[in-house]
Amino acid sequence: MDIQEVIKWTDEQVLFNTGKRLDSLQKSILEGVWQHQNYEEIAKNNLRSYDHVKKEAWKLWKLLSDVIGEDVKKSNVCSLLEQAELSNVSSVLDCVQIGVGNGNINICGENTRSHSPPNSPQAKNPSPIIDLTDAPELLSFYDRTSELSTLKEWILQARARLITIYGLSGIGTSAIALKLISQIKTEFDYIIWRSLGDTPTLSTLQIELKQFFSQLQQTPLPTIIDYFRCARCLVILDDVHNIFKTRQLAGQYLAGYEDYGKFFKQIATSSHQSCLILLSWDKPREIATLEAENRSTRALHLKGLEEQATEILK
Ligand SMILES: Nc1ncnc2c1ncn2[C@@H]1O[C@H](COP(=O)(O)OP(=O)(O)OP(=O)(O)O)[C@@H](O)[C@H]1O
Ligand SMILES: [Mg+2]
Repeated sequence: MDIQEVIKWTDEQVLFNTGKRLDSLQKSILEGVWQHQNYEEIAKNNLRSYDHVKKEAWKLWKLLSDVIGEDVKKSNVCSLLEQAELSNVSSVLDCVQIGVGNGNINICGENTRSHSPPNSPQAKNPSPIIDLTDAPELLSFYDRTSELSTLKEWILQARARLITIYGLSGIGTSAIALKLISQIKTEFDYIIWRSLGDTPTLSTLQIELKQFFSQLQQTPLPTIIDYFRCARCLVILDDVHNIFKTRQLAGQYLAGYEDYGKFFKQIATSSHQSCLILLSWDKPREIATLEAENRSTRALHLKGLEEQATEILK
């Protein structure tokens, strides 16, 4: 296994657990030990004293012991990190199902799932942490097979980071998103549905999302993007049209809500392993530009059901 890959993975684990990244000396110590160097050689290569490197290495082994839950030492660090990365273990303890209409809501007392770095193959998570308390209830569902496979292709293969599903009121955007969640939930660590029906400001929404993501974190992370990098999160924002002006060009934000546009753009353009789905009557303004630039952004215009509509009416 490549040491740079191991360092990157370890750095993500440390960030996820402590909110801090590995510093350059910690990375050099890992790299040196990986190459079978002793502390004296590492100290010489990094222009540091032997005592300093030994002390920092001891602190690093302690930090990694806390992060991966094993007694890490110089002699076993390589094999333990390799094993931890390879197994990408999901071990979810003390899960309590608080389920609502749509089921499968797990709030866990402790989660020691190791998170993959962005773009690495992701092991399925049998117990994602899901909060659908803000979602409508889905009693039955018909068809939408081709739309569902398009959405799955965008999320699972193309790794789209920002998806908008839009269409006339009542066309079924919430319904298809709920169906989609039931089909792909094990691909994610966290899934949360939040309606913008009560027009929360962006900062209120971000506080709520951070609270949800940080329930298993020892140290809260500074931004939503940090959570999006450390874990595979799926966020569904429903009723996004509520933050748009009515009787104006489609997708223009209400005064005081323009920062949502920047937030959506940041989700689309930053590197991370998560996905934000917007459900709306209109496409937000910046989506078309991001789509054209191919910035991991997709939009699905949901149209009416044809013969299946008869089934729904029945
Ligand atoms: N494919 C489907 N199969 C069965 N029922 C569906 C389907 N699509 C939509 N419905 C039903 O139609 C109704 C409206 O759907 P939904 O709430 O998803 O629409 P919407 O586009 O989210 O509407 P709004 O814009 O008002 O939020 C719901 O009762 C939903 O269960
Ligand atoms: Mg809806």
